[in-house]
Amino acid sequence: MTETVHVPLPGRAYDVVIGPGLLAEAGQRIAPLLRRPKVAIITDENVAALHLDALRDGLVRDGIDSRAKVLPAGEATKSWENLTACVEWLLDERIERRDVVVALGGGVIGDLVGFAASILRRGVRFVQIPTSLLAQVDSSVGGKTGINTRHGKNLVGAFHQPSMVLADTLVLDTLPLRDLLAGYGEVVKYGLLGDAEFFGWLEKHGPALARSDDSARIAAVRRSVEMKAEIVVRDETEQGDRALLNLGHTFCHALEAATGYSDRLLHGEGVAIGCALAFELSARMGLCPQEDPSRVRAHLRDMGMKTDLGDIPGELPGPDALLDLMGQDKKVVDGQLRFILARGIGKAFVSADVSENRCSDGASRSAGV
Ligand code: GLY
Repeated sequence: MTETVHVPLPGRAYDVVIGPGLLAEAGQRIAPLLRRPKVAIITDENVAALHLDALRDGLVRDGIDSRAKVLPAGEATKSWENLTACVEWLLDERIERRDVVVALGGGVIGDLVGFAASILRRGVRFVQIPTSLLAQVDSSVGGKTGINTRHGKNLVGAFHQPSMVLADTLVLDTLPLRDLLAGYGEVVKYGLLGDAEFFGWLEKHGPALARSDDSARIAAVRRSVEMKAEIVVRDETEQGDRALLNLGHTFCHALEAATGYSDRLLHGEGVAIGCALAFELSARMGLCPQEDPSRVRAHLRDMGMKTDLGDIPGELPGPDALLDLMGQDKKVVDGQLRFILARGIGKAFVSADVSENRCSDGASRSAGV
């Protein structure tokens, strides 16, 4: 039942292993990477309560000793303060260049611990054990690590590839449905950006996946990771194609900022709405068939997900303020917004020439504000 996706980056190739029960097998999977039978685990308190013992048991079964540091859960953990705390703790634990650090958790832990590993002793290896669907299909693969600052999210960080990713699909059973569906926003993104057949498969199997069909989950995680790996190998440091992975994200980042990064809107929910808006904008610009945005929304609605700005609770700022927030996006190059648009389902491309008027008009009309 286990699937492996190889990420063939020259000199830093690694495997993403996907399947049920990988926490219990962590020792045998990680042992080949170790020079001595010891690892440092960093996790958060929610994940620790659910999965830390299982991971440590899995390691001890193969004679691997582990030390663990447990951080508070939540986006605020991706801070300078916690970066310092992680690095100092790793030094206290005498973690050396040849040792391995384990990131056990969702995207916040993966990004923070990956960054800490990238700077500790000028770089130590790390293993990602992603425990959310979002982290399994997106953030744990591809080596983007970092923290937030008062200037914005993910503005400080490094590209540091993991040495292995263990995506245990059984842990997804412990996710609240809302978090699972938010992660599913990133899964849908892959179909929409580059694989129409996969999107068709999701239309059929998405509801079973949400209900806890493990084989549907494994298949969806595998295809998502495969697509991410292909793109990352083509463009590791996002000079071009990697920006495709940001389909829906320009809208999403503006909406997250407008909702104060609160639980009014989870990141993956914003990605799903953002994908629908990107298709709406593409259709209005005559780039893709008119029926594509409706098909995207219909699938999200079938899954019980948010599809429109109107589904976000509370007031939102008007189109100008939203556009202003989009202007803060990391994908602004020379003051120009680079949108990911689509010529159809599975046919996204990076566009630099969405003029502000058109974008404002399309974005606001797409959004119905
Ligand atoms: N999450 C987008 C990327 O890894 O490039």
